[in-house]
Amino acid sequence: MRALIAVLGGDGIGPEVVAQGMRVLQAVAARGGHKIELQEALLGGVAMDRTGSPLPADTLSLCRSADAVLLGAVGGPKWDPHAPVRPEQGLLGLRKELELYANLRPVGVHPRLMQASPLKTELLQDVDLVVVRELTGGLYFGEKRREADCASDICVYTAEEVRRVVRVAARLARQRRRRLTSVDKANVLETSRLWREVTTQVVRDEFPDLQLEHVLVDSCAMLLVQRPARFDVIVTENLFGDILTDEASVLAGSIGLLPSASLGAGKRGLYEPIHGSAPDIAGRGIANPYGTILSVALMLRHSFGLEAEARAVERAVRSAIDRGALPADVAAGGRRAVTTAEAGDAVLAALQET
Ligand code: IPM
Ligand code: MG
Repeated sequence: MRALIAVLGGDGIGPEVVAQGMRVLQAVAARGGHKIELQEALLGGVAMDRTGSPLPADTLSLCRSADAVLLGAVGGPKWDPHAPVRPEQGLLGLRKELELYANLRPVGVHPRLMQASPLKTELLQDVDLVVVRELTGGLYFGEKRREADCASDICVYTAEEVRRVVRVAARLARQRRRRLTSVDKANVLETSRLWREVTTQVVRDEFPDLQLEHVLVDSCAMLLVQRPARFDVIVTENLFGDILTDEASVLAGSIGLLPSASLGAGKRGLYEPIHGSAPDIAGRGIANPYGTILSVALMLRHSFGLEAEARAVERAVRSAIDRGALPADVAAGGRRAVTTAEAGDAVLAALQET
């Protein structure tokens, strides 16, 4: 295989975790005889500092010509949240420009990390779920207004925007336990009523073999920590998906462990950990790179169809954790935590053995 991969470290711990993702990509390529070219570019606050724009034209055109994008994180307290131009606009703009409307966020629990979660261990048994978050619509992209004492964000969804993301989730559910939970707030919001109607229709007409349920977002937030193992695939709109996946990361033990894949109509995808730029620990070499490395596995699977390689990377992360290579966010009290690079070393070592 030949591939061009755009690498956008971004802000805070982004470049540190992405460096480990690149090492893993290079190792996989070397083993399989794949020719991959990694090209780095600027996104977010660092791009604003150097070019004035959070999504410079060069970065966008590199991403358009790339087969996949690996991304770290954007944002931080250095950039004024009230300014008209903000780092986050770079990420949102990139998702929109590449039409990456479906964001897959798998959540699993490693037995060794159950102690890192504040939830009771018995609740965490058998947790294996994927949230499919709509990524290019809703409140994030609707018209925004601000007057002195009044502000508004408009939430818009078209039936087609709902249909296409529900299809992604339904196809995924078909490869799993065939349970699809659609999350909305249809008792209050008009967009949610459309969401529910369209989802019901798509599943009835195209995926009658799936078991579909509708759950209100507030109730879903509760069930995620009360009975998380009941979920298989969850599909929901942009803002609800953003919030529910930070919540779901608590099941895994740390948000530093969770990967994501943002997909559109073609094979090109954007792969990033779901965590933020963690400015408090940036530059110290202690961030958890597993979410990024697992995002590399998703890239191998979804953009390059390299399922065996994807599984090998996922296995390598599991075995690194098994052997106690635990970064500070999940290390149990008293144990020495590994650095970002040591966690990368442990994954590379485990990869060599498979
Ligand atoms: C995420 C992040 C982003 C989002 C921010 C940085 C814009 O929270 O990927 O979950 O809200 O989508
Ligand atoms: Mg988020």
